[in-house]
Amino acid sequence: MGEYIITGNKKLKGTVTVNGSKNAVLPILAATVLNGSVNILENCPEISDTKTSIDILKHIGCDIETENKTIIVNSSNVKCAEIPSELVKKMRSSIIFMGPLLTRFKKAVLSHPGGCELGKRPIDLHLSAFRKMGAEITEENDIITCTCDKLSGCDITLDFPSVGATQNIILAAVLAEGTTVISNCAKEPEITDLCRYLTKIGAKIEGGGTSEIKISGVEKLKPARHTILPDRIEAGTYMIMAAATGGKVLIKNVFPHHLSVLSDILSKMGCKIKTTPSTILIKAPSKLNNIPFIQTLPYPGVPTDLQPQLTALSAVSKGMCSFEETIFESRTAHINELLKMGADISLKNECEFTVKGVPCLYGAEVSAKDLRGGAALITAALRAEGVTHVKNSCHIERGYENIVENLSGLGVNITLKNSSDVV
Ligand code: UD1
Repeated sequence: MGEYIITGNKKLKGTVTVNGSKNAVLPILAATVLNGSVNILENCPEISDTKTSIDILKHIGCDIETENKTIIVNSSNVKCAEIPSELVKKMRSSIIFMGPLLTRFKKAVLSHPGGCELGKRPIDLHLSAFRKMGAEITEENDIITCTCDKLSGCDITLDFPSVGATQNIILAAVLAEGTTVISNCAKEPEITDLCRYLTKIGAKIEGGGTSEIKISGVEKLKPARHTILPDRIEAGTYMIMAAATGGKVLIKNVFPHHLSVLSDILSKMGCKIKTTPSTILIKAPSKLNNIPFIQTLPYPGVPTDLQPQLTALSAVSKGMCSFEETIFESRTAHINELLKMGADISLKNECEFTVKGVPCLYGAEVSAKDLRGGAALITAALRAEGVTHVKNSCHIERGYENIVENLSGLGVNITLKNSSDVV
């Protein structure tokens, strides 16, 4: 296992350019299965989850070429609708291949992605929607088999605006017979980006980015070229890191309106933020003031994917902040690790906790338990006195491209030591 070694207490200064969005590229890579044709995807992030998606596409028979941040997927020779469990287990979002495979090949076989670090993470909303569209689904020995003679459009109301379920249903509906209307669907910008790509390949979709999406099934799709939108979570993470260190950072290749809620929080805490249509300049005083309450919510609310980083920021700010995580039932694994660095956090239950800012954190040996929790530990390490070792770098590599180069460019003393080097 690799580890990041970070010497703290340095103000971040300089410019960082955001990469393409992880949560946009993964469903779009899965969607390339639909058109049986050539797809040119630009601005793809070079992260391990992208590599896992490419491995899945190769496994089912796609030809793939990659050059810099462009991935060319030719899905004309796909011949297999089964994804082996070792690939599904690597990345929970492999479940997003179910919709495209089912609608194009009338069959999809995947192992259950299972629960993971953030709680149970069921897929009942995905499966019940597929059943309503006409699929037969059996689950045996951890293997989910979906088959159908045809998929038919229908009205689906989600109990919760799940990002993954919304994406999977849209993907299944593109080649289904008739019209599908998804109500109470997710409105995240990554859903809008998926709809934009699907429209380019010939899908008929209305309402992407609103809480009701209508998909009229088509028979044939065409090739397309698409540029993946910038990663708002990566951008938000660098904003929080700048804020935690009293830094001044210009963030490029970002859509500031995707981060309005974070900008509001950071401004209230004392940061000065200036935006242009594609940049955010953040300037932070040496110590911020906590706001009383932060609650994660579906977009456009505070993203759950920024909650751990905001927890770390609160830990080094003045005053108290209560957090409520409403998206995942257990997204608190970073808290124990922050305590090792001297943070003052009391957990009420798995979803609610209070952070009392301390004068300073101290370098320690900590371990990333998940992707965003790992980013929170790096955030804390940047502000801590002394040297912090953040173990399990593999979690962070799933979602942050070139984090060592980016933070070094902002003046941080950070190195990544690979497992073979670690004693
Ligand atoms: C996606 C993102 C993830 C982000 C999350 C919330 C990707 C690859 N992942 O995850 O980074 O943190 O959105 O913005 O884009 N739920 C059910 N039944 C289901 C599906 C979901 O109960 O069938 C529940 C989940 O347990 C969770 C909530 O709905 O409590 C939200 O999950 P969802 O929006 O589906 O998250 P993901 O798509 O897994």
